[in-house]
Amino acid sequence: MAEVKTLHDAFIDELRDAYDAEKQLTRALPKMVKAASSPKLRQAFEAHLEETRGHVTRLEDVFASLDEKVRGKHCDGIEGIIEEGKAVMEEEFDDATMDACLIAGGQRAEHYEMAAYGSLIAWARVMEHTEAAELLQETLDEEKAADAKLSSLAEGGINQGAADAGGSHETADEEEEGAPAPKSGSKAAATKPTQRR
Ligand SMILES: [Fe+2]
Ligand SMILES: [Fe+2]
Repeated sequence: MAEVKTLHDAFIDELRDAYDAEKQLTRALPKMVKAASSPKLRQAFEAHLEETRGHVTRLEDVFASLDEKVRGKHCDGIEGIIEEGKAVMEEEFDDATMDACLIAGGQRAEHYEMAAYGSLIAWARVMEHTEAAELLQETLDEEKAADAKLSSLAEGGINQGAADAGGSHETADEEEEGAPAPKSGSKAAATKPTQRR
């Protein structure tokens, strides 16, 4: 009978998953840079591409700190998020809407990574892998900052630009929902439930 696996085994397994996810992201981010129109958004994706390359090497340091071989294990979760992102990039959106969609897709990836690193850090701590926990925390902090940066770009004009590019659709939708259409020029009480920090 196979031996019962431990939390340490699960930890190593999840590290391999994260290692593969980061590698997939280093291949996906350049496509997002190309697809983005806003110079600030491009810059944000480029900066996070650099950070993501750092996440790959930082995970190699984590494996080393645990005397484990560096190995990846295919991450289906991030593959799905990347595939959805690719499908969006094939759509014929106006530039601002494409940027808004790229942010939405990017944030899905960041939240996935944040969840993964959060668990890895908690596990590293209870098993007293102090060095691994510290390294993983550095990456988690960068993922959180990248997510916050995307929120600030979305809320700082990209979402509004996309809404404005849609023109008449917005009013039609609001009428459908029975909400009074905002007066032109008034700051519409736009709800942004998905972009909150
Ligand atoms: Fe990452
Ligand atoms: Fe990331």
